[in-house]
Amino acid sequence: MKIALKPRQGYFKSVYNQVSVLLKKNAITTLRGANSPLLRIGASFGFILIIFLVDIALQADMADSELFQNVFDPEVRSLNAIPDCSEDLYLKNSDKKPCYNLLYAPQSNPYVKEVVESVIVSSGSRPGRFLGMETAAEMDAWLDANKERAQATVFLDVEMVGGKPTGIDYDLQTNSSVRYFKNEFQSPNFFSQVPVQVAIERESTKMLARYKYGSSSSQADISWSVGVNSFAHPPMVIESRIPEFAAPFLYAVGMFNFVATLTALVTERQTGQRQGMRNVGMLESSFWISWYLWEVVTNFMSSTFIVLFGMMFQFRIFLKNNYGLTFFLFFLFQMAMSGFAFIFFAFMRKPQSAVSIGFFVYFLGYIMTSVILSGWPYDGKYEEGLNYVFYMILSIFPWNLLAKGLQDFGDATATKESPGIRWNERSSYCVTDKFSDVTFTPGVYTKPNCSMPLDEIYSWLAVEMFILLLIAIYLDHIVPNEHNNYKPFYYFLDPHYWFPKKYNGEEHFGQIVSDKQASDASPGAGERNEDVRREEDVLADKLRRIVSGQETTETEDERTAMAVFGIKKTYASPFSPCGTKFEAVKGVWLSVGEGQIFCLLGPNGAGKTTLINCLTGTLKPTCGDSLMFGYSVKYELDKIRTFLGVCPQFDTLWETLTGREHLEIFATLKGMSKAEAKLEAEQKLEMVQLSKDADKPVSQYSGGMRRRVSVAISLIHDPSVIFLDEPTTGLDPVTRRHMWTVIQEAAKGRVIVLTTHSMEEADILGNRIAILSKGELHCIGSSVRLKSNFGSGYKLLVQLSKERIMREPTHAEDVISKLNALVGYQPIDQSNDTLTYSLSHFDADAARGILEKVEKAKAELGLQGLQLNLSSLEEVFLNVARGQTGAVVVGGSTGVLEAEG
Ligand SMILES: Nc1ncnc2c1ncn2[C@@H]1O[C@H](COP(=O)(O)OP(=O)(O)OP(=O)(O)O)[C@@H](O)[C@H]1O
Ligand SMILES: [Mg+2]
Repeated sequence: MKIALKPRQGYFKSVYNQVSVLLKKNAITTLRGANSPLLRIGASFGFILIIFLVDIALQADMADSELFQNVFDPEVRSLNAIPDCSEDLYLKNSDKKPCYNLLYAPQSNPYVKEVVESVIVSSGSRPGRFLGMETAAEMDAWLDANKERAQATVFLDVEMVGGKPTGIDYDLQTNSSVRYFKNEFQSPNFFSQVPVQVAIERESTKMLARYKYGSSSSQADISWSVGVNSFAHPPMVIESRIPEFAAPFLYAVGMFNFVATLTALVTERQTGQRQGMRNVGMLESSFWISWYLWEVVTNFMSSTFIVLFGMMFQFRIFLKNNYGLTFFLFFLFQMAMSGFAFIFFAFMRKPQSAVSIGFFVYFLGYIMTSVILSGWPYDGKYEEGLNYVFYMILSIFPWNLLAKGLQDFGDATATKESPGIRWNERSSYCVTDKFSDVTFTPGVYTKPNCSMPLDEIYSWLAVEMFILLLIAIYLDHIVPNEHNNYKPFYYFLDPHYWFPKKYNGEEHFGQIVSDKQASDASPGAGERNEDVRREEDVLADKLRRIVSGQETTETEDERTAMAVFGIKKTYASPFSPCGTKFEAVKGVWLSVGEGQIFCLLGPNGAGKTTLINCLTGTLKPTCGDSLMFGYSVKYELDKIRTFLGVCPQFDTLWETLTGREHLEIFATLKGMSKAEAKLEAEQKLEMVQLSKDADKPVSQYSGGMRRRVSVAISLIHDPSVIFLDEPTTGLDPVTRRHMWTVIQEAAKGRVIVLTTHSMEEADILGNRIAILSKGELHCIGSSVRLKSNFGSGYKLLVQLSKERIMREPTHAEDVISKLNALVGYQPIDQSNDTLTYSLSHFDADAARGILEKVEKAKAELGLQGLQLNLSSLEEVFLNVARGQTGAVVVGGSTGVLEAEG
């Protein structure tokens, strides 16, 4: 018989409610957390400020150059001298071999020789800096073998008429490498080519004149001097270089959100908060929608701030381009980056790694964007050959699209006169035609040789932000989570994923029944404790009846409101050789009746938490299943979660949320309306005596107060089954006793499973107690039953009169022998005036009989007092933990007295 489930909200209503409360949680944790929005706004502001300062510095640097100054009367530059290559301005000459001002050919021609010698003399150079050769080919070969060692070469072809030189053809070659030296680009034209040219022409003309007019003194007749200068000019406008270097900084602003999102998500997973919310019925869709919307909100804010700060600092790219265009570029870029954060989340376990991942992604992006800024592959030729492949691959990465977008914005506002890009031009400004083929319209920005316009960038980013989210959700399902739960990679193809299979007791439990039969037949099965075996048999019987389709009675349903059928949990250890497996829970069968508190005891590492996690659906058991009020944990977990309350062993609370906010959030996730959740939070806070501190953030709570919040969360919305994993750890004795009352109150009509290391607690609270050790149940039953089975039974303390012992030294011996005669026992301990008798393995009636006999003889024997004690649960625990089932140890001392009769 299944209990009726509480009426549930419709799917869309619960998603709506859950998403709103999760968004509220994100907003509060962000507002109050270390990752405050101030930091985000600060990052936008800080990076824009850096860009501003770098721009100012670059402009100041450029202002030194003559180009940017007002030149009214340019100086004439004399060009007479050929510069000496040793100045090392135009030649690298790094290997320090001799360098040459000029190579010339053909050296065997006497007229050529004459010209070159005059050049050397007139330019005041050293003759060693001029190298003669025979042919042009020889010079080329020399240049090829001696890179950067000659400034220029000249080949002179002397025309001869009647044995006299009448004209000269010459070829001049110069080293055209432009060198950047002391903030200036040294133009080879000015600095080497023109001087060489002028010298050669001057000396050739002189030589020809000499032969033509037959005068050797005619040199002085021709004067030849050349000077060059530029026009007078106004200063060149200093252009902002922002588009060239801003991309990496603006990209860095986006990375802040990436790291913040990744950290928050992984922290929620690592602390168990996500699992905690799942346990109360948080839907996966609510989880993802809430995070996605949260990203929309934060990215909207941060993109707005980037654009606003950019305008504030008067950046042309923000002022002249359409506001919507710049905003969308940042917003969509950041949304796509959030998609990447979701994908990384699927693989990450530790929030600390988020920063390292952030650095890695930033570095990767930095390198890629430098390529994009060089103009490839988003150019007019993008469709040719391999270009297209790179075009597609590089567009997958949002930072590349950001860089391209910023580059276009920068180009469109390169000068004061540039018009910028308007909203309706977001696609048309970018044309694939070459510059020469484009007709430019004044006042409209057109970019030739361009592909990937803004419009296309937005489409890529928008598609990416959805696809990356879908991939992230898929990965979240198939990558093993912190509890090693995952679905097969083809899970979405399985029709049962979309339309869950109706759970069929017969089919489902048949395997468990046959496994049980096999394990009963195995050697060693008979060594199990009698009560444990009986429990197993009763439950196996119930299973068999379910399998054969028989109805269960109402009393049985009540007795086994929760029934655990052979739960096994094996952890595969990734560190042990050959993937050794560790069985943490080895086939546990137990039942808890309605209204009962079931205490699970056991030493550290016994498997209590593992068992509870299997029962709450946090862990998937390796074998077995359990029924809670008729619902199977394996197949109907979502239904069970509507009546489940879980207090995990370790508090999974948000440091920045208050106790009240925690309770309200969990109540809403469980399906309560806003008003109901408020009331429920108030009640539960009062129940655990936290009303006074309800509005303090959890970070200011003591360990015990946190524990009480966790217990209160587990009691929200009247759950029918409550699991409390060490609920009272860290509570002071007064609060602990109060908590016992709370738990006892809560037990009415419900099932409570509780683990504890306090024997007193188990003794007081537990209707039934089981001791788990090394994954196996060693005993199960009421406290009294365990004590009589595993404790030393009853202890009779007989108090003698101190005075009589003083008066009669043999008094104690007398009493011992008389009592031996009366009840047939010897004391196990004798200290001063107290004799201790251990009445082991007697039931309560027999013990009482003995007590009565001794009571009657009290006066006669001169006894001062009598006390009958039951052995403690602690003793039972120690016995079981030491593996001494059935044997009796008293205080770990002396011997054991067996009854004689
Ligand atoms: N994720 C895991 N992977 C591998 N082994 C695990 C894992 N979790 C628990 N174990 C092992 O399973 C055993 C049972 O652990 P469990 O946490 O259930 O013990 P417990 O009874 O709750 O102990 P405690 O009283 O200390 O809380 C331990 O030996 C533990 O080392
Ligand atoms: Mg535990």
